[in-house]
Amino acid sequence: MKALVLAGGKGTRLRPLTHTSAKQLVPVANKPVLFYGLEAIREAGITSVGVIVGDTAHEIREAVGDGSAFGLDITYIEQEAPLGLAHCVLIAREFLADDPFVMYLGDNFLIDGITGLVDAFDAADCDARILLTRVAEPQFYGVAELGPDGEIVALEEKPVNPRSDLAIVGVYTFSPAIHEAVRAIGPSARGELEITDAIKWLIDAGHRVQSHLVTGYWKDTGRLEDMLECNRIVLEAIEHDCRGTVDGLSEITGRVVIGPGAVVENSVIRGPAVIGADTKIDRSYIGPYTSIGDGCTVEEAEVEYSIVLGESAIRGVGGLSRSLIGRNVEVTKAAGVPNACQLMVGDHSKVQVRA
Ligand code: DAU
Repeated sequence: MKALVLAGGKGTRLRPLTHTSAKQLVPVANKPVLFYGLEAIREAGITSVGVIVGDTAHEIREAVGDGSAFGLDITYIEQEAPLGLAHCVLIAREFLADDPFVMYLGDNFLIDGITGLVDAFDAADCDARILLTRVAEPQFYGVAELGPDGEIVALEEKPVNPRSDLAIVGVYTFSPAIHEAVRAIGPSARGELEITDAIKWLIDAGHRVQSHLVTGYWKDTGRLEDMLECNRIVLEAIEHDCRGTVDGLSEITGRVVIGPGAVVENSVIRGPAVIGADTKIDRSYIGPYTSIGDGCTVEEAEVEYSIVLGESAIRGVGGLSRSLIGRNVEVTKAAGVPNACQLMVGDHSKVQVRA
């Protein structure tokens, strides 16, 4: 069995972060979301992995390398434009050859990994096995409708009026029959070759397609709220581990990971939280469910329920919450102008200030 990991695409919903970096590399508990997927693939016993890359190919290659750090053998497959999930299968034909494979969307996060899905597919006699989960807003996903015996009767991509609350999770297992399906379908209304249409084609052509309900935690990390929640779920499970320096005036409660070279002075950290390597926390409060990346500075500030990427500085700012702060960002107090905010914010940013 092989794996096909999709790490191309645009990432419009996480702008401006995705103007400069791949959405699959946005960190959850200081680890790129893509790495969780690669680890899950390895855990399922798969080592031969094709990675689809687009505009951010350079960055993905730099982060993942040849895969040896994950125990994987990685082949990069360049996609000239994000022409759809089924297009990814189309261009990976040579790599996939006639092997069955698991297709993993690089921005998806499953707490329980994929071993159960892969084993169930191995044991079943079918051409596709897809994962479904109940969601509150099915209109943002591929949606399945099941018949009385649990069989799939309809599949629709991002329907305006969803016929069920069963979303298609971004991890699929396929036999080589999918290759005929992706060649047979045409582009959707949004101009993409949809994998949902290819699966529908398999069903219509009489192939066996099974579904499986995921009960464990799953998130498509494409939106800010989803990133923050995913971060919370991962931080729930961390163990306390301090490799940095904490002075006697600081108070650390709950499970907190402090990276090597990090320095905490005169501060309060309430876990679960992760502080990256070489980060300095000084006269500050770090609240629960916060991940601060490597090489950051937090001085006289308060941050909770947030993700801060590496090399950023937060100085003299209280009450930062539910925030996603990019790399090399400075958030500071405006000097000398009472009750004013001074902003220099990139395109497609979202800033919410207290009125
Ligand atoms: O997350 C689950 C959902 O993923 C499913 O419910 C939908 O049925 C499925 O179509 C997909 O929807 P999204 O709109 O979330 O897909 P997105 O465009 O975000 O792409 C998913 C991943 O695949 C992402 O890491 C980018 C990558 N990708 C995407 C496209 C369209 C590529 O590498 N190439 C592409 O052409």
